[in-house]
Amino acid sequence: MAVRISVSRFPMLTTAALVALLACPALAGGAELQTIQLPKPRTEGGKPLMQALAARHSSREFATRALPQEVLSDLLWAAFGVNRPDKGGRTAPSAMNWQEIEVYVVTAEGAWLYDATAHALKPVAEGDLRAATGVQPFVKDAPLNLVLVADTTKMTRASADQRPFYAGADAAFIAQNVYLYCASEGLATVVRASFDRAEVARALKLGPGRMPALAQTVGYPKE
Ligand SMILES: Cc1cc2nc3c(=O)[nH]c(=O)nc-3n(C[C@H](O)[C@H](O)[C@H](O)COP(=O)(O)O)c2cc1C
Repeated sequence: MAVRISVSRFPMLTTAALVALLACPALAGGAELQTIQLPKPRTEGGKPLMQALAARHSSREFATRALPQEVLSDLLWAAFGVNRPDKGGRTAPSAMNWQEIEVYVVTAEGAWLYDATAHALKPVAEGDLRAATGVQPFVKDAPLNLVLVADTTKMTRASADQRPFYAGADAAFIAQNVYLYCASEGLATVVRASFDRAEVARALKLGPGRMPALAQTVGYPKE
């Protein structure tokens, strides 16, 4: 993930020291997250649908190595990207076409919000927040946790008691897209409903009306 370091924040550094610091962003306290423009998703190829369905399964054992940006790009497009740009249509359906599910991307570097129209990641919070997205031990070590959050302010004409039902259904379609992408690409994944919603809301700085629905861990299978 890209990081930005302002030279003015380190006035005493020599050029050599700054070069060394830039080479090791983890040591560069104060590094700020930037918007990440994802590469164009590769929307062709992959396993035939019936083979992907045959391979789909939950896995709770992940290698720790990070996912390349190209894989993240394809994964997010498959999850809930724009597949009909003329209408703003998405790869997963949503009740009333509310498109109310926000996809948060949580890695060792920080948390981002997926902007499907721009196919970009908008910074949310710096630092490793993976542990806040779940209660199971693998969550903090796997390279990627997605958190699917309903923006209930978009759910017009649904009563308060209907909203969790619609949010859960709409999030589940996205989670299944992730399952099928992972099955196609040989990645490991598991969808999760057991997480601390208050902790997730704090970590992701969720505003009013945001309802965390599901989380999903993704990574390479553990060797
Ligand atoms: C709504 C929902 C919530 C789930 N929550 C969790 C969870 O919190 N933790 C977990 O390890 N698995 C969770 N799972 C995964 C299921 O345990 C898994 O899908 C089930 O055991 C069937 O296994 P399979 O996906 O390999 O077919 C959840 C699945 C669904 C559909």
